[in-house]
Amino acid sequence: MEEKRYAIVTGGNRGIGYEICRQLASKGVEVILTSRNQDRGEEAVKKLNASGFSNVVFHQLDINDLSSISCLAKFVQTHFGKLDILINNAGEMGVIVLHEEEFRATGGYVHVLDEKAHLLTNVIEEPYELGEKCLKTNYYAIKTITEAFIPLLQLSKSPRIVNVSSLYGDLYWLHNEKLKEELQDIDNLTDERLDEIVQWFLTDFKDGQLKKNGWPLTVSAYKVSKIALNAYTRLMAKQYKDILVNCVHPGSVKTDMSSQTGSATVEEGAKGPVMAALLPDNGPSGVYFNQTQIGIFSSKTSPFV
Ligand SMILES: NC(=O)c1ccc[n+]([C@@H]2O[C@H](COP(=O)([O-])OP(=O)(O)OC[C@H]3O[C@@H](n4cnc5c(N)ncnc54)[C@H](OP(=O)(O)O)[C@@H]3O)[C@@H](O)[C@H]2O)c1
Repeated sequence: MEEKRYAIVTGGNRGIGYEICRQLASKGVEVILTSRNQDRGEEAVKKLNASGFSNVVFHQLDINDLSSISCLAKFVQTHFGKLDILINNAGEMGVIVLHEEEFRATGGYVHVLDEKAHLLTNVIEEPYELGEKCLKTNYYAIKTITEAFIPLLQLSKSPRIVNVSSLYGDLYWLHNEKLKEELQDIDNLTDERLDEIVQWFLTDFKDGQLKKNGWPLTVSAYKVSKIALNAYTRLMAKQYKDILVNCVHPGSVKTDMSSQTGSATVEEGAKGPVMAALLPDNGPSGVYFNQTQIGIFSSKTSPFV
């Protein structure tokens, strides 16, 4: 009999995360659907259980709360003794959409190019505090969780880490060639330097220096968070040769995060992360998937085209 495989999905109560849980469960994986809100998480699990997926359980997880992370790690250790798949899906935009209708009319985030930043002046707002929180959730929290679960993942015969990234994680969005080169040079990049780069961005964001140092001008914190997440994915893959660690752009998916813009359904959006979670042992590590296809970290032209 095949050994059971256990997966944690963060932000599993709605959007792409919920659908990732459903698709993994349909492939026989035992899923720990996590959500920061107990009621919303239990509701989501109830729905999946009612549609026949008894292999989905709930556990609370706020990825920004250290005690919540260690409580989940204890739960997994006690009940399952190992972890096979960690899907870092939970994320936030760091943006306030002021006018939903106008925002949808511009095409949503799909068309947020720096050259067209002026079109969004009165449509979205990016306060520093939200940007800082975005970096905390989309980058720092993922590092903390990943490091907390490495020991349990190393007890698995086929450990996988999937970081749900974005086309906005493409180095294309940086206008600083030297920095792009540094982030591409994974052999010489270190964890410490990556943190320093993120802090440098935050300082420039606070001081209104985005343009001067070549940072993205629109949806800035989100782009930098996913750029940093991609680089972190590659560093982890280099460090942990026994784990397949990859990042995935799910597509432009109609969810709350995208204000229901985008061309893909959640069913389509979940396919890439699920595929990366179920890669065979000889599968790639340290790569970026654009949905289900291997893509590149640094495009020469807009990755949306
Ligand atoms: N939609 C797209 O077009 C698109 C494109 C590229 C990449 N992505 C990426 O796909 C992932 C999922 O996005 P989505 O579109 O499904 O967004 P969504 O519908 O807004 O769902 C976001 C999920 O993240 C959770 N979350 C946020 N902060 C959290 C925290 N501190 N602790 C635990 N959970 C937290 C939310 O929980 P609550 O319900 O409690 O708020 C929710 O479950 C994100 O990483 C996003 O960047 C999405």
